[in-house]
Amino acid sequence: MNGLYHLGERSAREIDALVARALELRSGAAPRRFDGKALGLLFFNPSLRTQASFQRAAGKLGLDLVQLQGGAGGVWGIECEDGAVMDGANAEHVREAAPVLGRFVDVLCIRAFAGIKSLESDLRDPLLNGFRRFAGVPVVNMESALWHPCQALADWTTLEQYEIPQRAKFVLTWAWHPKPLPQAVPNSTLTMAAQRGMEVVLLRPRGYDLHPTVIENARSLAARSGGSLTITDDRASALAGASAVYAKSWASLDTWGDLEAESRQRAPLRDWCVSAEWMRQTAHARFLHCLPVRRNVVVRDEVLDGPWSVVVDQAENRLHAQTALLETVFTALERTPRVRSQARPSLEIQP
Ligand code: CP
Repeated sequence: MNGLYHLGERSAREIDALVARALELRSGAAPRRFDGKALGLLFFNPSLRTQASFQRAAGKLGLDLVQLQGGAGGVWGIECEDGAVMDGANAEHVREAAPVLGRFVDVLCIRAFAGIKSLESDLRDPLLNGFRRFAGVPVVNMESALWHPCQALADWTTLEQYEIPQRAKFVLTWAWHPKPLPQAVPNSTLTMAAQRGMEVVLLRPRGYDLHPTVIENARSLAARSGGSLTITDDRASALAGASAVYAKSWASLDTWGDLEAESRQRAPLRDWCVSAEWMRQTAHARFLHCLPVRRNVVVRDEVLDGPWSVVVDQAENRLHAQTALLETVFTALERTPRVRSQARPSLEIQP
């Protein structure tokens, strides 16, 4: 496996193997060790779970760790546009930054959220794709503008841990939040549940659709795996019979980058907060959220502290899923070791 950008690009066989290995590791199996190899972690955004779980996974696998932070006091601002005239804030181009880091580490993990300023730019996922293009080593996506595949892998592991049947009803619900948030998590959650073959329901108020390409992709994955996808704003019908309720807030594509318009659009939607009353309408569903979560905004205390919530196990599974993933990526590297180019650019002027 050559890195991981998006769970949807991986086969059912590959995912089944990763989830099975994550569950073995969760039960205490010893991971392989790759002493002398190095893992790079580059965060352009804050993190608690991703940072801690990747650091711990690196330790378990015997990897040297190079951890870098973007933003003030961290790495230089990185430009991704080809042909950019770099007279602004960014001091270096991904065409240099990525291969330089690729000389120091064997696998590079990147976190770079959507900026939620330009939809056109966010849809190109510029930092993740820039690093994938130029690093020269496998790149693992630790949440980009579009996808959070490591979260989705941990979520799949959690569904297996709780023995939620493959064909069970899985509700991904939008929730109110004071700020517009990226769509990487809901994109990956929807993809994951569709890939697993579940009866997936996307519950959202009007104006909060996910991108048509993501929906189309999820529908085709569901068709392949024997699952289904329904999109609705009818809460009662969505929750009836559900085995899992996954809450997340995300920004509207209709007002992407326009804070005032987005804020006006979501103002009447504060009742989109998961409560015990929601959960009582389900078939004893488990409640999932990727965390961090705003209590009594996205979900009420009674749900997080009640019998439904599996959010802490879900977070723990980040460690096991990523250990399994890195073990697979580093094992694949042993089979195809990197050959360093010995070529030097010639300075001879060609006639
Ligand atoms: N779920 C998740 O990625 O958590 P962090 O943002 O804290 O890493």
